[in-house]
Amino acid sequence: MTFEHVLVVGAGQMGGGIAQVIASSGRRVSLHDAAPGAVERGINTMRKSLTRLAEKGGADPDEVLGRVSGVGDLVPADLMIEAVVEDSAVKDDVFRRADAILPPEAVLASNTSSIPIASLAAATGRPDKVIGMHFFNPVPVLKLVEIIRARDTSDETANAITELARALGKTPAVANDFPGFVSNRILMPFINEAVWALQEGVAEAEAIDTIAKLGFAHPMGPLALADLIGLDTCVAIMDVLKDGLGDDRYAPAPLLQEHVSAGRLGRKSGRGFFEYS
Ligand code: 3HC
Repeated sequence: MTFEHVLVVGAGQMGGGIAQVIASSGRRVSLHDAAPGAVERGINTMRKSLTRLAEKGGADPDEVLGRVSGVGDLVPADLMIEAVVEDSAVKDDVFRRADAILPPEAVLASNTSSIPIASLAAATGRPDKVIGMHFFNPVPVLKLVEIIRARDTSDETANAITELARALGKTPAVANDFPGFVSNRILMPFINEAVWALQEGVAEAEAIDTIAKLGFAHPMGPLALADLIGLDTCVAIMDVLKDGLGDDRYAPAPLLQEHVSAGRLGRKSGRGFFEYS
């Protein structure tokens, strides 16, 4: 399985980045998003990123974007990668529809940050071909793909997706289907604790991030990273950890929820823990 034609569902920051790296590897991409204008916005973001990469010797942006077509609905392909909002009902619906439209041999993958792969597989009649393929933001830059095997994922599917990750220039790491997998089981409680520290007045936001950047050699502090990920996504992931692991210590910090209720979602809304112009 070389996955020559990939359907990417969701053209936000993750879906757009995934479409970009797949098209950059020479594969054809159909990009779908239910929100009007989202595919065009996704393609504009891809063009900016490809232009930055072209300045450093990367491929011609027009050539890469020539392999990406916006599509008004799901279409048959060798592989679907779903990157829609972190909401199980919305994802279940995408998997149910994809199962009806994509050929029976196609693999159905999800870029979910935390939702159990087994529950997405249950929405299909091909659980052996359902897998997690979790990329990291910014997708064109970060090398990791966390590959999540559910109980019914076949070796053939897992091997093919691992090979695809390598063919995209990424490094795969395999995890089992636990809430938050490995990445968000570690990252989100770290971010949430930074929010608690801010809320309790342990330090100002700048100081918290400086401590993580210079003290732990992280490229960004946890609050700036939360703004990059999206505070609504952080709350959704903490909720999955809390419910899935059955432990209230994973409850999202009240200040995180307050920001989301006020529409301060991070970079994408211009304001989160920091302001963005
Ligand atoms: N496209 C192409 N190139 C990009 C880019 C993009 N979108 N964003 C950054 N770059 C390139 C820049 O051109 C630059 O290249 P150069 O070094 O060759 O000049 C390089 O990446 C570094 O970028 P900048 O100089 O603009 O800025 P920084 O050095 O501060 O790096 C960063 C920015 C790459 C975002 C870095 O801060 C970083 O790695 N931050 C951590 C991000 C992280 O932890 N992501 C994981 C989030 S968790 C997740 O996604 C999973 C989900 O489930 C929650």
